[in-house]
This record gives sequence, structure tokens and C-alpha cells, in this order.
Amino acid sequence: MNELELLIDFHKDAERQGPGSTTETLKALDFIPENDRASLKIADIGCGTGAQTITLAEKIEGEITAVDLFPEFLDRLTKKSKELGLEEKIKTLKADMQDLPFSEEAFDVIWSEGAIYNIGFEKGFRQWRKFLKPGGYLAVSEITWITDSRPQEIEYHWNQEYPEIDTASGKIKLLEENGYSPIGYFALPEYCWIENYYQPMEERFEAFLDKYNQSVMVKNFIELHKEEILMYKNFKEYFSYGFYIAKKVQAKSDHKKSGTS
Ligand SMILES: C[S@@+](CC[C@H](N)C(=O)[O-])C[C@H]1O[C@@H](n2cnc3c(N)ncnc32)[C@H](O)[C@@H]1O
Repeated sequence: MNELELLIDFHKDAERQGPGSTTETLKALDFIPENDRASLKIADIGCGTGAQTITLAEKIEGEITAVDLFPEFLDRLTKKSKELGLEEKIKTLKADMQDLPFSEEAFDVIWSEGAIYNIGFEKGFRQWRKFLKPGGYLAVSEITWITDSRPQEIEYHWNQEYPEIDTASGKIKLLEENGYSPIGYFALPEYCWIENYYQPMEERFEAFLDKYNQSVMVKNFIELHKEEILMYKNFKEYFSYGFYIAKKVQAKSDHKKSGTS
């Protein structure tokens, strides 16, 4: 078993694969005006086992294409959506977010919770923009500094892990420069990390170690997760996931193409 297989095996039994909550998913959805919400076509990219997919499907009229690279996660989502009678609304698709098989202007909304970092925030929203209908919406959560300054230790950690981390103002500026009009931003509160993500994770540690006979590889794997949790607990006032909601508008390049200035 390699590290990726371990990661999938450990996370496939979880309700969610990253920080989040039903309340925060619905809060982000609420930024989309009511009159733009009739029969939505949504792509949920990096859906994992689909915590947010289910929340959206229960709330909206329309159809969600839930995309992930790993069939093990999609199988869990398919099972859940059948149990809840939501299979008409949720289609799953195994695909790489870097190379999505969608046609242009296919979706009203592109949703992605805790996943766009896999392609990179800027690259992701630039690449996915063509899949949105004109006036469509992007709703993504992305790791964000929630203060202007911070201790060196956490600055160093995130610059190693994900150098694209920035403040919300930096991320919003990028959206504005690339054909999106920001309509909402908020940071995920602590319970999304602790109660909804890390506590359930900690509860699975022992059984997972036993499943692999307390092997050194799995012990190291669990240690890395414990370090991640500690890092969050020690520095939680400096970073979180920021939720960004933005509307697709004309980009500078579109103006050039159409001859307007
Ligand atoms: C941190 S998890 C978030 C999952 C889910 N949205 C949630 O919040 O619970 C990131 C997800 O992105 C998926 N992923 C990673 N790389 C991907 C890629 N290249 N294409 C599609 N999905 C990918 C992972 O399998 C995982 O399910």
C-alpha cells in the first residue's frame, strides 16, 4: 500500500475530507440571488465523498455533476445519494480538475470546497471560467490568511505547503482581474475545522492503526495528521478557509476580442 492509497483508505470513511459545514455551504449558496437559482446546473469539483454535494442537492432545483479524481470517494457519494433519494439530482464523474471534459458555458455554478488548491487558486478559476455560462457563479473555498501579519513559524509552514496562500484582499483582486465580480466572502469558523473535520479524524486513528497492524508506515501517516491538527490549534487565529463567491463578467481579454475598451 502506498501513501496515496492510505490517504484514500483513511479519508473515504469520513463525512467530509476537509473543513466545512452544512451551514457554511448554505451561507455561500445564499449569495446567489434567488432569481438566478431556478433549475441550476452545478459542477462540484473535488467533491470527495460529497458532504457539500448532498447539502446543495437537498436545497436546489437542478442537477449537480460531482467530480473527483478518486472513484472510492465517488462510490460513497453515489451510495449516500441513493439512500437519500437524490440520485436524479447528482451525477458523479471521475475526472482530473486540470483536464475537465466539459463543454464551454455548460454550467450555471462552479462549486469547489477545499479542493481548488490541487490545481492552484488562480489557475483553477481561470481554467474553469470557460465552463460557466455568462453571468454564472463561482463558489470556492481556499486557504487564506485571516490577519495581515503572523508568526514566522506558520508563515514558513504555509509557504512550504502552499505558497499561493494570501489574504482575502489579494485573492479577491485576482478574481477581479480575471473576469469575475466578487459578490461574497467569509472565513470558515473554527467548528468547521475542529468539530466537523479534526475530531472525527482523531476518532478514526486507533481503528486505522489496528487495521494495518500498527505498521510503521501507518504510524507515520497518523503522526503527520496529528501535526497538521496541532498546527491548526496553535495558529488558528491566522488562517482558515475563505469562501469566495463571484459572478462571471466580461474579462479584459473579452473586451479586446469584442473591440470595446
Ligand atoms: C480536501 S478534499 C475536499 C473534499 C470535499 N470537497 C470536502 O470539502 O469534503 C479535496 C478533494 O479534491 C480531490 N482531488 C484532488 N486532486 C484532484 C484532481 N486533480 N482532480 C479532481 N479531484 C481532485 C480529492 O480526491 C479530494 O476529494
